[in-house]
Amino acid sequence: MINDKKVLFSGMQATGSLTLGNYLGALKNWLTLSDEYECFYSVVDMHSITVRQDPSVLRKRARALLTLYIAAGLDPKKNCIYYQSHVSGHAELSWILSCFTYMGELNRMTQFKDKAAKHADNINAGLFTYPVLMAADILLYQADVVPVGIDQMQHLELTRDIAIRFNNLYGDVFTVPEAYVGKVGAKIMSLQDPDKKMSKSDENPNGSIYLTDDPDTIVRKCRRAVTDSQACIAYRDEQPGIKNLINIYCACTDTTPEKAIKEMEGRGYGELKTAVAESVISILKPLQDEIARLEKDKTYLDGVIKENAQKANYYAMKTLRKVQRKVGFPDRIR
Ligand code: TYM
Repeated sequence: MINDKKVLFSGMQATGSLTLGNYLGALKNWLTLSDEYECFYSVVDMHSITVRQDPSVLRKRARALLTLYIAAGLDPKKNCIYYQSHVSGHAELSWILSCFTYMGELNRMTQFKDKAAKHADNINAGLFTYPVLMAADILLYQADVVPVGIDQMQHLELTRDIAIRFNNLYGDVFTVPEAYVGKVGAKIMSLQDPDKKMSKSDENPNGSIYLTDDPDTIVRKCRRAVTDSQACIAYRDEQPGIKNLINIYCACTDTTPEKAIKEMEGRGYGELKTAVAESVISILKPLQDEIARLEKDKTYLDGVIKENAQKANYYAMKTLRKVQRKVGFPDRIR
């Protein structure tokens, strides 16, 4: 608990262009939870270098992501919005936790297998131990809740296992976190292949709506979305393309699939696609305008970055020092 509130931690990678999936699956839920919890939202730039990055591009993307968090409505006075690399406790705790994580556990991580297949020329140790750093992110702040999309659930389960293992050995050191997965946006699928999740790293740009896409591009991508030949707007697994469009519509307009189906009664796929495009534009256009406004205010953003890194460091160090004592590192002489 911090200030009598439970703690929330989440983060996003500054890799590739963020998609509507990132927004609906994660960021949107962050906004609804932000009043109830003491929140830490990190730009996880250390995770990004598990895949080769152009340094200047990474720096730009990290800043753009931090700006996006604020533009989306997270007040940096109330929410701790910071770069992971500005808090050395993440790396230090990650090392300790890696000594409490088994190779067999990491070997089972499906994201590692997928990424290793995609980057066969660079299967580095960081890619393998990535989930341990993620566990460190969460446990460092004693988070109670972690809002994520479904694709991160396996990492969260591992985080819980590591926390429980550590607690069993050393007493109640870590809060064991719970995942928070939203009802409709938890898994947004590719518009071109609705059996695959919408992803930053998709080679086909028509499969993803990027947060930077302009209205015309959004309309075009929605029009091209793969559907089926059933000519019936229903919310069921046998129609994955339509189901995905309904999920997007529901997440953007805060409605339920049942209500959306009623609204669409008697309409064709073309009309559904137009409605989806409009709902997406109504979310992304104001977001893009706010990003453009904030980007101009360098002094403000720099201030946020500095203050929030200090706040994150303070809480991170509290946990880290406790863990270091527990495992037997010598006390520091002041
Ligand atoms: P990342 O950067 O891949 O994605 C950020 C968030 O977006 C969600 N997401 C989706 N949700 C619904 N539909 C989709 N198509 C979709 N694509 C992505 C993800 O589930 C995630 O919530 N390892 C994490 C970042 C991370 C983290 C953490 C998250 C590092 N440390 C600690 C939570 C807590 C990642 O790569 O997310």
